[in-house]
Amino acid sequence: MANNTLTPVHFFSHGSTMMLGEESESADYWKKCGDEALAHNIKGIIIMGAHWDCKGDKIELSTNPNPDKSPVAYVHPDKYVNYKLNPDLETTKRCMDMLSEEDFNVSGNPTFDWIHDVYLILIRMFPSKCPPTTVISMNARYDPHYHMKIGATLRPLRRENYLLIGTGGAVHNLYRNRWAPMMLFRDNFAMETPPEEWALEFRQAFEDVVTNTSGPQLRRAMTRLMKHPKYRDAHATDDHFMAAMFVAGAVGDVEDLGVSAVMGAESWELTNMCNSQFTWGSWPKAIAA
Ligand SMILES: [Fe+2]
Repeated sequence: MANNTLTPVHFFSHGSTMMLGEESESADYWKKCGDEALAHNIKGIIIMGAHWDCKGDKIELSTNPNPDKSPVAYVHPDKYVNYKLNPDLETTKRCMDMLSEEDFNVSGNPTFDWIHDVYLILIRMFPSKCPPTTVISMNARYDPHYHMKIGATLRPLRRENYLLIGTGGAVHNLYRNRWAPMMLFRDNFAMETPPEEWALEFRQAFEDVVTNTSGPQLRRAMTRLMKHPKYRDAHATDDHFMAAMFVAGAVGDVEDLGVSAVMGAESWELTNMCNSQFTWGSWPKAIAA
């Protein structure tokens, strides 16, 4: 029972910083998703990344009215330094209230500078102008159910034309990437050997879950992926998986039954990093005048 009054939800694997500077199918897909969002007059972006976490039982939302950007390696500064970020402080406050009502220990962070996991995606989706954006941290305990609940709590905002995005990685283990071909050829997509078995295996498990389950079953299957025999090979740390939990919360309600993900693009990078891009749901069809 697909519900077209709800905005789509994206899980984007942002990969390395070079995904900002180099062209790829993933970059084309991000732009396409951005164009569609603008064509449907989204009110704003609500995004959880993979590079900002809070200790203890806390989460924070960025309340910095004029955030800077953390610099990135292997990307020409022209690709990002002049891009103006657009914090949505009103929606940020509203999200904090919604999370607080669900007993999250949540507060604003007025000095946080945004990191490439978030601004790489914003620049790629909306190169002309950043829509009003709310940035949510992770919690460093990396509890999948906790992050799923964040997504579930903010899910009603999909009904108000906000676009919820998780930016992390399907297979993302920096320790097992092959960096030498990139250094040798200055090409992050250079691949002298095929991806290793553990990466292919987990990439397939991830795709199977998100494209074959929906609603509460998606939530259960996503948390169970963290017990997959190849999970720790695919994710040496849990940070790039939490945004997928946020997404499962945002699109895993009973009302979302029947809405499975579509894989829009995929870019293997640094041999073993699988940057898969997934979208749940669709925009309402335009009514001909
Ligand atoms: Fe990252």
